Amino acid sequence: MNKNAFSVCRLDTIQPYKPSNQVAWFVPPESMPLKLDWNESPLPPAPSVMVAVKKFLEHPNALNWYPDANSHDLRTKLAEHWKIPEECVQTYCGSDSALHAAARIFTRLGDRVLMVSPTYDNFRIYALEAQCAVTLDGPKDIYTLRGDELAALVEKHHPQLVYLSNPNNPTGWLVPENEVVEVANRFPKTMFIVDEAYAEYSNVTVIPDAVQMPNLVAFRTFSKAYGLAGLRVGYIIGSPGNIEFLNLIRNGKNVSMIGQVAAMAALADGDYLKKSLERVRAGQRVLESGLTRLGIPFRASPANFVLVKFDDAKRIQDALADLLIYVRPMSHLPGMTGYLRITLGDETQMTRFVAALEKVL
Ligand SMILES: Cc1ncc(COP(=O)(O)O)c(C=O)c1O
Repeated sequence: MNKNAFSVCRLDTIQPYKPSNQVAWFVPPESMPLKLDWNESPLPPAPSVMVAVKKFLEHPNALNWYPDANSHDLRTKLAEHWKIPEECVQTYCGSDSALHAAARIFTRLGDRVLMVSPTYDNFRIYALEAQCAVTLDGPKDIYTLRGDELAALVEKHHPQLVYLSNPNNPTGWLVPENEVVEVANRFPKTMFIVDEAYAEYSNVTVIPDAVQMPNLVAFRTFSKAYGLAGLRVGYIIGSPGNIEFLNLIRNGKNVSMIGQVAAMAALADGDYLKKSLERVRAGQRVLESGLTRLGIPFRASPANFVLVKFDDAKRIQDALADLLIYVRPMSHLPGMTGYLRITLGDETQMTRFVAALEKVL
């Protein structure tokens, strides 16, 4: 290992984040791969987004100019959408990049970081990169988390920073906003990073409080419900002071102009969003009744994925992949051996999934 590598790498003991293998990209689209492995939207973005992107590409300098590094128009639209001041929102190249910035800005060397787990593993890498001491701990029942359990975890570990995915990827717990805010108010010396990547599905958000509180910041993305994962647009909402801090290290060139244009069009098309959310919920009903019929236990999810435990998860994952259906193994996370995460699709996609699952069981 490390053949021909420069010898000074202080991060060489990190266990990297394990991304989905993305083999679906290498399957011809006409073979109809069913990609249920990375919680993307099963549906393309709104037609109005395609129109806006095409129109943008007619600009003579669409691709040779750097993007607007301040994301001026997009931030204005986001501020209008959330009814918050513009200085409370900042855009990033996906919410991953926003989380990365937050790990660097809101921690000091050696700080304790608590990741309420099992959860989205990327933040662990960012916190380790910032040279923090990372602890993974969570509720007894991985599918639910109450405010008092969150408070007890903070009391137990005394972290300087807490990472909370809400709703949680991959287990689907959802802490009501007032409970998150109450806990953050109770621990003013702890920064609460609330990752709301799936909040369009659940309609629970701490945004109204995040704009006022010094120790609570919300992270959102256009990658999930809006169907723009490929364009990489996310944003942070927080107090003006916290956004100012984040701006110290932000590289605005990272948010592409196509991404900004597409995000604005997606945000403007509330009807399409509503319809996509309804289609996903209809798909969820098909999946849930299929799982029930097949005798496979599951918990209802407030997001766009369902976590299921199998005795022979790897075999099922491989057999589904042979049918060009891709699901996400979660065994790489501590305590998650045997779990598969299935992204929700629409009714047709979930009908195909259930039939395939029945075949391979
Ligand atoms: C909880 C959570 N946060 C953030 C992300 C990353 O989203 P983005 O595409 O905006 O970087 C994901 C993606 O799967 C996620 O599950």
